[in-house]
Amino acid sequence: MNVINARLRGKDGLYRIVLDGERIAAIDLQPGPFTPARDDIDAAQNLVTPPFIEPHIHLDATLTAGEPRWNMSGTLFEGIECWAERKALTTHEDIKTRAKKTLGMLVDHGIQFVRTHVDVTDPNLTALKAMVEVRDEVRHLVDLQIVAFPQEGIESYANGRGLMTEAVAIGADVVGGIPHFENTREHGVASVEFLMDLAERSGCLVDVHCDETDDAQSRFLEVLAEQARVRGMGARVTASHTVAMGSYDNAYCYKLFRLLKQADINFVSCPTESIHLQGRFDTFPKRRGVTRVAELDRAGLNVCFGQDSIVDPWYPLGNGNILRILEAGLHICHMLGYEDIQRSLDLVTVNSARTLNLGERYGLEVGRPANLLVLSAPDDYEMIRSQGQALVSVRGGKVLMRRTPAQVQRFA
Ligand code: FE2
Repeated sequence: MNVINARLRGKDGLYRIVLDGERIAAIDLQPGPFTPARDDIDAAQNLVTPPFIEPHIHLDATLTAGEPRWNMSGTLFEGIECWAERKALTTHEDIKTRAKKTLGMLVDHGIQFVRTHVDVTDPNLTALKAMVEVRDEVRHLVDLQIVAFPQEGIESYANGRGLMTEAVAIGADVVGGIPHFENTREHGVASVEFLMDLAERSGCLVDVHCDETDDAQSRFLEVLAEQARVRGMGARVTASHTVAMGSYDNAYCYKLFRLLKQADINFVSCPTESIHLQGRFDTFPKRRGVTRVAELDRAGLNVCFGQDSIVDPWYPLGNGNILRILEAGLHICHMLGYEDIQRSLDLVTVNSARTLNLGERYGLEVGRPANLLVLSAPDDYEMIRSQGQALVSVRGGKVLMRRTPAQVQRFA
């Protein structure tokens, strides 16, 4: 199968991408537009990119908003209360059904790689055991990374360390954490040291919910970064949210960024979720409660966007479309300058791939897996401006999803 008349990001001209089974066999510059043959996919001079990536979602909680009650205040804290009530009702099959339905929504929007956090503050590890089965059952749709996520803490939850260790033994790919939620700062620091030990010992990656609060005194990012620096694990470590950084003063950030560059860890921002949940204790002026995405990017640090929630106690909306998050994030993070827009797809493709440590399993290069998207516009700017979509998703050399764009008829 060939994909013809493709524009590639950062390159002039049109390309033909030759797929041989599950691999990319060749990428050739065309002398001009080609007429499609029977089995060709015609990109029609639009962008062809590697698949979109969802680097941060909670598949065990999706599609539960309103069960048993709605989050009326819209705060993170009422969300945690609602989830505690819903969590008591979850079953193995309930989690698998909702996770698969949500993954279908992601696939429909061109996503083929997903990192899901799964709550392991549960003596039975019900959600984790279900998600390990889901990971196997959806391999033809997505590569799924599972984070052992201690929603109610490691040091502050009964047998928290034991549950994290058991989750890794059962098959979690990534070790999580939530140091700002631990009962004391000391517990927070201890939790980071514990989870980094566990990751180093087991070979797991690390992705910590870090400083997801407007409290400018929440400073666990420096603890995580220093642990990563000392252990030389930066490329394998991700700090998610870090929204307190939006409240840090510039003098502290000046010092912090020096450490972040030395540690060279990855960042995930979930701008729609954060703008909704944070700033809730402010009157006016009201903080945005989002991390310094543009500043991290300009400092050369790796940062990407995630959805976090789809219709759950923390966020009532969402449809699986990561481009909706990208457009909102560019607005929220003051990144609508031309240069930022023109490379904005990095935030949902290559940057996310680096966060997930996908290496040579990702990217449009000869010899790599035949996974790609045909988009509806010729460049990043037009994708954002026109609210473009993924039109075709190819996985392992086969068409996984095809979208027919809406047709508009005008009569005058
Ligand atoms: Fe999260």
